[in-house]
Amino acid sequence: MASPSIQTDPTVPIPESLLPMTATVRADGHLEVGGCDVVALAEELGTPLFIYDEEHLRARCREAVAAFGDGVAYASKAFLCKAMARLAHEEGLYLDVASGGELATVLAAGVPADRVVLHGNNKSSDELAMAISAGVRRIVVDSLDEIDRIEQLAGPGADVPVLLRVTPGVEVHTHEFVQTGQEDSKFGLSIASGAAEVALERLRASSAIELKGIHAHIGSQVFDTGSFARAAEVLADFFIPLGLDELCVGGGLGVAYVVGEEAPSLTEWAEGTIAALRSRGVAPEVTITAEPGRSIVAQAALTVYRVGTIKEVAGIRTYLAVDGGMSDNPRPVLYGSGYEAFDPADVRAVRSRVARVVGKHCESGDVILPEAQVPPAIGVGSLLATPVTGAYGYSMASTYNKVPRPAVVFVADGIARVVVRRETYEDLASLDV
Ligand code: LLP
Repeated sequence: MASPSIQTDPTVPIPESLLPMTATVRADGHLEVGGCDVVALAEELGTPLFIYDEEHLRARCREAVAAFGDGVAYASKAFLCKAMARLAHEEGLYLDVASGGELATVLAAGVPADRVVLHGNNKSSDELAMAISAGVRRIVVDSLDEIDRIEQLAGPGADVPVLLRVTPGVEVHTHEFVQTGQEDSKFGLSIASGAAEVALERLRASSAIELKGIHAHIGSQVFDTGSFARAAEVLADFFIPLGLDELCVGGGLGVAYVVGEEAPSLTEWAEGTIAALRSRGVAPEVTITAEPGRSIVAQAALTVYRVGTIKEVAGIRTYLAVDGGMSDNPRPVLYGSGYEAFDPADVRAVRSRVARVVGKHCESGDVILPEAQVPPAIGVGSLLATPVTGAYGYSMASTYNKVPRPAVVFVADGIARVVVRRETYEDLASLDV
């Protein structure tokens, strides 16, 4: 599609800038992604359905590798299944995992352990043992207790390669639930309080651990490059005297979800961050790495729902109820995140009707779009799509009310492949004993 112009009128047809990069409109008005008719996919595979544009995913991975160079990792928490792990690995990214489950998934996908970085503020001994015996590239140490555990597990001479996660004391403009760089945080060790220094001494003195570098992550869905630059300065000042080889700036780049929003590109983010670090004195030999998650996957996907019930509450509002909800997209409920909605069977339709798009769960908070602009022709049985659902949608999905999780399909070159099948009622009972 042509390069986007930023729209601010919410009634306009869904802007191309919020759709995956191979999105086009067919002659019949249907949305096509990866050469596949989205309406036909919904008919064939059912709804709700997550549709990922494989070319978009690959393009963002390549952009990240080109911008940061070797060492950049995909933060798999944003969206992980075996196909996604393989795709990121094929495109040259490392895989950042934040739990034993994410580690097991990427290893099961065939990603070599030396391409994996393990995170977590409370890694268990089992998770650490799994990572050490697999031989992951880095463990990002997040507490003194974790240092004790690694030493007990690995023993003298093991030289487990780690980064130390520090908190730079920078508060960024984003939802407080996804701020991580401030002093009052469960993550990392504070530079300002001296806690980071204490951990550094422990790591330097350890014969089980080899300290490779420093890590920081200031938050997620951050648009303001100034926040990254401020964190870069604090980090650089802390990092330079240590004489280490590697500095990871985490992830956090924001993406546009709704009409009128604009976010820096991965390239702009990388260039700005690297320039800020280098100009503050971080030597050219130091490897600067990052872990983007959302900015790789968010805009690559859309969710397609079917409208099942429309309720007019006289004098108040119209409720459009779809066949998913907070179980496949908890972000509006958790963070008040905004989305857009459109008709994938009539992409060019003007969205002049206001309605509240809700899910099928048994609580009033189950809202996907509190004030959606939708085409007036949307009725019972219509499809309704929400773009930019590729990050923290499926990965945070639940089976609340025993609603099965949707299928996930990758589309490319006219071929759709289901990469995660739809959950069944049997699956839902499969853990019960
Ligand atoms: N690295 C670390 C250490 C992180 O904690 C995170 C995200 C990332 C990288 C990737 O950040 P990204 O590039 O995706 O912003 N569920 C929330 C987001 C939580 C982010 C957690 N950490 C949401 O839906 O907005």
